[in-house]
Amino acid sequence: MSSKAAVFNGNIEDPFYTIESLPIPSVPKNKILVEGISYAFNPTDWLHILFKLGPAGSVIGSEVSGVVREAGSEVEGFSKGDFVTGWVRGGYEKDVGGFQEFVLLDPVFALKLDKSKIKESILPVGISPTGFIDTWEGAAGITSGLTTAGAALAHDFQLQPQPRTNSEYQDDYLLIWGGSSSVGIFAIQLAKLIYGIKVIVTASKKHAEFLRSIGADAVVDYKSSDAVDQIKKIGSGKIYYALDIIANLETFQAVYDATSATKSGKVIIDNLALVDESSIKLDPERTNVKFRRTLVYTLNGKPSSWGPHIIDPTEEATRDYKHFWEQVLPPYLSKIKHNRLKILEPGLESVAKGLELYKDNKVSGEKVVFRIK
Ligand SMILES: NC(=O)c1ccc[n+]([C@@H]2O[C@H](COP(=O)([O-])OP(=O)(O)OC[C@H]3O[C@@H](n4cnc5c(N)ncnc54)[C@H](OP(=O)(O)O)[C@@H]3O)[C@@H](O)[C@H]2O)c1
Repeated sequence: MSSKAAVFNGNIEDPFYTIESLPIPSVPKNKILVEGISYAFNPTDWLHILFKLGPAGSVIGSEVSGVVREAGSEVEGFSKGDFVTGWVRGGYEKDVGGFQEFVLLDPVFALKLDKSKIKESILPVGISPTGFIDTWEGAAGITSGLTTAGAALAHDFQLQPQPRTNSEYQDDYLLIWGGSSSVGIFAIQLAKLIYGIKVIVTASKKHAEFLRSIGADAVVDYKSSDAVDQIKKIGSGKIYYALDIIANLETFQAVYDATSATKSGKVIIDNLALVDESSIKLDPERTNVKFRRTLVYTLNGKPSSWGPHIIDPTEEATRDYKHFWEQVLPPYLSKIKHNRLKILEPGLESVAKGLELYKDNKVSGEKVVFRIK
């Protein structure tokens, strides 16, 4: 038996990969081996190719849902036959990555799915609406967003789970810049379901209704010239947390400015692209702002790199994230919705099409997925 895989060939022009048969990996004591059923794309799949973050011979892709075929001897909480979804860093190390038939996952980036809820039906190619996590396609693309959003809320913002009514954060605001992104839709849902905080998001107008339906209290069109003023007005001096998911210099500056009406208490601004605050215009009078950065790759306690940056894990981040992932999140999973899906033709041949969509910046408010067969 072998594992058919989309193997990066070192090109940053199409064809980016070849479909090859790799040996099924032997299972280390701390990993699970998953036979993939459905797969999901992430912007990072394309970025790893574009910036050549890993070598030729690495396997493209990150997210997969499927069935555990073997669990390593030291793994707790997963066993053979479990239905799971998870992610692995693709395009980074030889033979490692998501878009292959048999994928090794680290249990700290995997979730057990409720077998009784996963439908065996195959969703048709094309657009499929949002819904709870009850299909292989819907399940495939949730863990990258959930791990990232969870780490930001539970560690970087240090939010604590709250009772369903009377949250201690009920009058506070979290600003999410990039609400219609995958990370964004999970950040909104976690913020409302677990922490009971008010949420302002930025997104294109066309996504406003959906984002409200999953918990956003206010949706501001980031293309409006007065978006920052609108956010300041809605937040009424109570935006204590801000997550910049898009995290370019323009959005980072906008997020910083949009929180400027919060004069008392601490404001924490987190970004997902390792942007340094020294690269934006800061107001020296604002001494109540703390900056944080989230990088999911280090949450298993191992150092990781992003281009020239080597990022070391911290014990606190690993501990807070693990607690969130294993103890806090599971009871809420049945209440969480996945994004609208764009379902490609089955087969690893669809990897080319998915990468093109990210390359051409054509993904808006959806998760791109495909089945392997
Ligand atoms: N640091 C980490 O550990 C980490 C982890 C996961 C992801 N990320 C990064 O987070 C980002 C989002 O990832 P994802 O998977 O969630 O992406 P995604 O779902 O592909 O994001 C697409 C969405 O981004 C929105 N968007 C684009 N430019 C925007 C802007 N200027 N303002 C507001 N929204 C904007 C688009 O919104 P509209 O359609 O409304 O225009 C679109 O719906 C990526 O850059 C990814 O690399 C980082």
